[in-house]
This record gives sequence, structure tokens and C-alpha cells, in this order.
Amino acid sequence: MTPANSSTPESKPAPASRARFLTVRLAAEDDFDGWRDAARRLAGAAIPPDMVIWQVGEHGGELFADALPLPPPPKTELRVSRAFVELAQSAILHRDPERFALLYRLLLRLANHTASIEDHADPLIRRIEMLAKAVRRDMHKMHAFVRFRELDDEFVAWFEPEHHIVRANAGFFVRRFAAMRWSILTPEVSLHWNGEILHEGPGADRSQAPDGDVLEEVWKAYYASIFNPARLKVGAMLKEMPRKYWKNMPEAELIAPLIAGAQAREAGMTAQVVPEPERARTLSGLREEAQACRRCPLWQDATQCVFGEGPTDARIMVVGEQPGDEEDKAGHPFVGPAGEVLARAMDEAGIDRGRIWLTNAVKHFKFVRRGKRRIHQSPTAGEIQACKWWLDQEIGLLRPKATVMLGASAIRGVTGKAGAVGALREHGLPLAHGIGIASYHPSYILRQPDRDASDQAYAALVTDLRRAGSEAGSD
Ligand code: URA
Repeated sequence: MTPANSSTPESKPAPASRARFLTVRLAAEDDFDGWRDAARRLAGAAIPPDMVIWQVGEHGGELFADALPLPPPPKTELRVSRAFVELAQSAILHRDPERFALLYRLLLRLANHTASIEDHADPLIRRIEMLAKAVRRDMHKMHAFVRFRELDDEFVAWFEPEHHIVRANAGFFVRRFAAMRWSILTPEVSLHWNGEILHEGPGADRSQAPDGDVLEEVWKAYYASIFNPARLKVGAMLKEMPRKYWKNMPEAELIAPLIAGAQAREAGMTAQVVPEPERARTLSGLREEAQACRRCPLWQDATQCVFGEGPTDARIMVVGEQPGDEEDKAGHPFVGPAGEVLARAMDEAGIDRGRIWLTNAVKHFKFVRRGKRRIHQSPTAGEIQACKWWLDQEIGLLRPKATVMLGASAIRGVTGKAGAVGALREHGLPLAHGIGIASYHPSYILRQPDRDASDQAYAALVTDLRRAGSEAGSD
């Protein structure tokens, strides 16, 4: 973004007797780059904060027609800490009209060494930190409470942020819902994603967003199913999900009845209160639905939900643990190193990869960051259980003749129980649909410390895949 200063640095200064102010016009409420550029120039010329008027857009230009021009960029670069930049990037998104001036004041004090960004007792720093905190909270609320509704061939959401966070949050929604066409309408600006490019549009009115459809029922069923009366803490719940967001959230209408019914349910008196979650009818419908999955926290750090894929009449399903780093970026299962081993083993077993449904027990990548690397973490039993909701539906819709479970997480995902590959792989497990065949995960094969162990596990995988091929038959 660029600043939209009415004055150019090169223009002649107005006579000192008439010009009392320096007006900075920023292009938008969230124009951090414009603020930074102007603040650098002003600080370089040691302009006192009281002489500066910060404006957004063209409003009120005539009031300050005799304003001084903005100074040119300073010859020596003003150095500020990363901590200040991060604080300023958040605080600038606050609705408080004073924020630009407060930040400039702090910048000058940091440059003059009359403040330290570490000094959290400094009233100016404290005030700016409060602004930044409120913005971060608003951004988090937007991540959590945007609810898309289906309208024609796209998904539309209405959201009313407290601060100017919409543009800053756009990347989150693009990454999270890359595969969908969507629009987020807000009073100030709207975002439109067509699957490839993000467009911005003018602010909208609530009446432009759809009011309800089948997704509402899915959300409500989902919310009711995760609502745990034994954990009910009304205060904490209201803090996390403030009332003002309720009007845009289909599940909100369930909150009061669920709270009212909580004690009775806990006592086991209303065992059948929880509605069965509505089932999507097709695998592609399920895939779309899973993009918005919040059943466990893994969605927060992953790039996207990596759903299963393959022909919908596949007779063999192969279940892995979870997408890895490459799968998370690509949005497809088994496209990284483990996928190469699996593809080779399938080839050797005479199985056409194009005829298989490939999926995972857990659909979001779980990792910890080490520097630039994202290191795989095994999912917990709770995460596998949360994701079983998707896997069960996937299996129910595909009805495979043979399901190959690669490793312990896949065994747990499919059967709901713990089991070791070594103990199970000799025996086929009867499942509700076809037979389950446990085998070694390709990553386990890659991790073996010596060649012999790796070759043995690989040969077992080929044998198990061959068995799946014959169990699945051809009729
Ligand atoms: N490992 C898995 O279990 N699944 C993938 O999709 C990739 C690696």
C-alpha cells in the first residue's frame, strides 16, 4: 500500500506564518505502509507529533489547505526494532482514530531513546499494547466465527469486525479455504476468492449475505454434537464466543437450549438430545464440508484439510496417518516421499494407483516448527477420534472391499481401537464394509536404521497390498 499524501516532498513549503500543520493522508484505515513511510519522513525531519494531522482518504482536505508538505525521505535510515514493527502492524488496525498519532509519538521516543519497547509500564506503550491486543483478539474471532452459507455456486459469509482487520485476515481465509469459491462481506470491504485470485470490493450490507440453508443444519448438528455438558462453563463460553457474534452463527440458536438441558443430559436423563450429524450425500460434498472442519485444533496451523481422493467406485481404500509437509501444501494425500514408496509398492503388487481411494486417518498436518522446517508430530488418540467422523463417512460412502491400514494411527482411525501392525497384519479384520488389512506405513519403512529391516517391511507392504488386490477382486 502507498500513502496518499496530498503534498509531495518536492513541493515548496507554504509560508511558516500560515502553515501550522502537516497533514498526512493515508490511503486506507489499515494503511500501515503509508503510515510507515510518512512516519520515517516526519521523524527524519524531527517534526513534533503535535504538528501532524493524520487523515484517512480525502475527507476534510479543504480544512487543511495550507498544510506543510511532507518532508523528503531521510538520508539515514531510521532503525526500529522488530518488536516495534510488529506492535505497530497490529495496533494500526484498531478503530481508535488516535492510533496513528500514538504510534508516531512512540516512534519518536524510541528514536530519541526516551522509551524502551520492553518497558510495559510506560503508559504510552501500555496503551498501544492494549490496541494491538484488541486487534489480535478481533482477528482470532474472525477466524473462529466466520460462517459461510451456500449461495448459487459460492459460499458467502457476513462478518462485522470491531477493527480494520479484514484485509489483514484475508491470507488466513485464502489458505484455509483455497479450494472453495467464497466471499466475505463486511461493512467496510468485501473479499472475493475465485479459487485463484483474491479481489476486493466495497463494503456490504447484511442483507446481501444469505440467511440460511442446509449448511446451517450441518453447523447446528456439529455444534450440538461437540457440546459437552460435563465441561459447561458459561462464563468462559461467553468470553470465547461473545454474544455479538451469535447473530451470524447458525449454531448460536442452540446455545440457550443446550445450556438449559446440560444438567439433565449430564445426569443421563435425556440420552437422545444430540441430533445425529447430518451426513453429506457424496464424497465430494464431504470433501468440501471437511474444509471447514473444527473438530480438533489441528486446522489452525495446517494449510488446508487434505481429504481422501480417488475414483468414487474404488474397491480398495488405503488409509495413512496424516498428510505430511508436502501433502499439506499440495492438498493431496501421499505426494511426498512416503507416497513414492507407496506408489512403488503398489506397482510391485500389481495395483493401479489410479483405481485406489487414498486417504488418511487425520486430515490436517500436525507439526512443530524448527526454524524454517515443519517437523511431523504423530496425532493423539483424541485427534484421530475427532477425525474418525470424516473417515467413517468416507468409508460408508465408498464401501471398499478392502481397506489397507498403514500403521497404528490408521488402525485406530478405521477400527477405533489401538493395535500394532506386527500383531495384526497376518489376520484380516472383518469391518462393516469389506476387510481390513493392517500393514507397515511407508514412513516406517523409510525410517528403518538398516537396509534389511527396511527391505523386510517393504516386502510385507507389497504382500499386504497384493492381498488387498485379491480380496477386492474384480466383480
Ligand atoms: N503420510 C501419510 O500417512 N499420509 C500422507 O498423505 C503422506 C504421508
